[in-house]
Amino acid sequence: MFTRVAFVVKTSLPAMPPQINFNYQNTLEAAVGAEGLRVSDLDASAGKDVVAAFRRRVDSGEIGCPNLPDDRHTARAISQFALDLRPSIDYVLLLGIGGSALGAYALDVAMRGPHPVQSSPIGQSRKPDRSQAATRRLVVLDNIDPGVMAAALEQLNPKRAAVCVIAKSGTTAETLAAFLIIRQWMLKALGKRARAQIIAVTDPHRGDLLAIAREEKYPLFFVPENVGGRFSIFTSVGLVPAALIGLNTEALLRGAKDANRTCWSGDHRQNHALASALVHHALDTKHRKSIEVVFAYSSYLWGAALWYRQLWAESLGKRLDRNGNVVEAGQTPVAALGVTDQHSQLQLYAEGPRDKMITFWEVTHPRAEVSIPRAFVGYDACKYLGGKKLSHLFRAELVATEAALTSAGRPNCRWTLPKVDEHTIGAFFQMLEFQTAFPGELYGVNAFDQPGVELGKKMTFGLMGRKGFEEFARGLQ
Ligand code: PA5
Repeated sequence: MFTRVAFVVKTSLPAMPPQINFNYQNTLEAAVGAEGLRVSDLDASAGKDVVAAFRRRVDSGEIGCPNLPDDRHTARAISQFALDLRPSIDYVLLLGIGGSALGAYALDVAMRGPHPVQSSPIGQSRKPDRSQAATRRLVVLDNIDPGVMAAALEQLNPKRAAVCVIAKSGTTAETLAAFLIIRQWMLKALGKRARAQIIAVTDPHRGDLLAIAREEKYPLFFVPENVGGRFSIFTSVGLVPAALIGLNTEALLRGAKDANRTCWSGDHRQNHALASALVHHALDTKHRKSIEVVFAYSSYLWGAALWYRQLWAESLGKRLDRNGNVVEAGQTPVAALGVTDQHSQLQLYAEGPRDKMITFWEVTHPRAEVSIPRAFVGYDACKYLGGKKLSHLFRAELVATEAALTSAGRPNCRWTLPKVDEHTIGAFFQMLEFQTAFPGELYGVNAFDQPGVELGKKMTFGLMGRKGFEEFARGLQ
């Protein structure tokens, strides 16, 4: 039987509102041996400097995301707008990609669990089940796979759809293509009345989407100039779709604001986001843990894991530091689902290359409780299960996986959420944004740009014949 080692170091911080914890005990050498950190690796002065450096960028107005929960005005306007439109809709179609889609997707999955659009089997047509209409499903058309687009056009009812077209730049090819297709589908069904059901979210000053929305008189919401796509979940980008499907956006923002109470502390013993940032950075730079596996032990956090994967990858994966030196920084994030991926990935994590750290996401209170019936008690494989709660098995699997990885000398840490509701998710996402901003300062890279993505976008424009991007197409040829 595995027993936990007792440590003098306090690695599970006091619970802070709303009771989210970060525990890094199993990243220390006392737990995992040579692959682990020393307490001195989490230098207190580094933490203070990092927070101060990030604070300067926020106070100067360069970076806007930490202050978004204070924008009550926008939040109220969105809630009112959604309240008015909701009775006329059954679906919210989200046309956007990357940071313009993953936040709303993560919120939807967190509150309702995963529910994808599925195409009919080839040769069969299936009309939507009207009994499900009241749920106001979120349909994210981020990937432009023509099969999925065709399935959405076939299955959904345009008369009962709200369309959120979201692009900060106002020019992203995938989003604009989806918009042109969906707009035509809406116009065909509703004529000019479609305009009241197409909502644009974009930059307040520039971009073709802004001009089109004004020309067509669509309801329009803005993304603040100093907030980039993947940090925009608490702007209209996340809030408009969330409010339209009926989530409690007020509780979400309250959670994010509550998180700010600890996220600005320069003491990593009081600041989970900072502790986590220091642990990740130190494991990467001192022990070459160049891969972070986020092992989410909740199907409701699967969307969050995909949202976080983008946040971590795009923010820290940089060729140059802020002085122009080549650093090629960043950890590769991998999303895994507990318990499912224990039977798919865990073998590699436990015995494969020692290039990974594992971050568990645990939820203490499950959404519902289910008992396992007592039956087949004459069979060993069933006897011990009968009468137990399913959550008991779920938690045992997490504890066992964590212990097995620790015994194998694989550093791992754990975020614990009391439950998955809007308030907790708001706080958790805000903490993860801070957790991502801080290593930017440690690596010396700009966590808020994405030059690598921009180049790909320009090459796509060139290949598709967009005016002004000919040189990118020529380069490719
Ligand atoms: O985080 C980012 O900035 C990117 O992932 C963008 O969100 C993504 O490329 C989509 O950009 P846009 O909102 O301009 O369509």
